[in-house]
Amino acid sequence: MSQVKPSLFKTAQLDDKFIHDLFSKTKILKTAFESSGHVRKDVDTDRAKELLVLLMFLEPSTRTRLSFETAAKRLGLQVIAFDEASSSIKKGESQVDTFRNLAALQPNLVVARHGEDPALERALENAKIPVISGGQSAHGHPTQALLDLFTVEDEFKSVQGRKILFVGDVKRGRAALSTLEIFSRFGGKIGWVGPKELGYEGPLNVERFSKLDQATAWADVVIGLRLQNERTQFGAQIELQKYAADFCLTPASVRALKTDAIIMHPGPFIQGVDFDEALLNDSRSRVLRQVTNGLFVRMALICEYLGLWRSKT
Ligand code: CP
Repeated sequence: MSQVKPSLFKTAQLDDKFIHDLFSKTKILKTAFESSGHVRKDVDTDRAKELLVLLMFLEPSTRTRLSFETAAKRLGLQVIAFDEASSSIKKGESQVDTFRNLAALQPNLVVARHGEDPALERALENAKIPVISGGQSAHGHPTQALLDLFTVEDEFKSVQGRKILFVGDVKRGRAALSTLEIFSRFGGKIGWVGPKELGYEGPLNVERFSKLDQATAWADVVIGLRLQNERTQFGAQIELQKYAADFCLTPASVRALKTDAIIMHPGPFIQGVDFDEALLNDSRSRVLRQVTNGLFVRMALICEYLGLWRSKT
């Protein structure tokens, strides 16, 4: 495998070979775990017992935090999850000072989700211990992009030439941005449909649709996105009822979708606003498979960072 950067904030830090080697190893771990319930053949779990992963999530998370925690524990690592609600942040300590103190405890790896604090960003970037981003504000979510790419490649072998449709809030969603970038990088054709205030504003080629029906008929992969009205710094507040009527993914609204297309969503979704839970039962839904794949991608990534592979893997 090629040299891994000391910390991971953007998928652009990872070269193509690293990503595909990582996915090969992800498949090895997934197959081993699903057939035997452990990964001891491929991972030095005795060494893992000596190492500590610290989770520092300063924004809410279910999937990413518990995925990293589960991944670390399945590898045999020790895990400590920082709990902001019972921390000295409640007494006025800054996020950057919090991180300095956590780093001083000498964990072997930190996984961090955080917002817009530039001082914390600099501290994470300059840390002497490796840091993996668990998502930063609306800017990026590299491991979500990796697990989404893994899920689509697992389905179609390659993203090259596949039509990937993003529905809704691309502008304010960290998961959307990182995933859009990685699919474009690996040759996917990117489409988008949603309210004009929430469209993609970057340099990549994106085909814009005005109607959900027309867009889903075009797509091989449909990616729903949560409406992120809580990110008030972007101004636009979208009216939920109108949004749901035009863009919610439901069994009826995906009627034009091809039978061999797939439906994804990074989660969480807002029931009946951006996604209808009835779609989880659609045979084309990969929403929960994304979560499972995320576990094994993160296990492989942690092994890479902490040097836990047995030599032949
Ligand atoms: N997809 C994702 O990042 O979900 P969480 O916010 O629950 O971690």
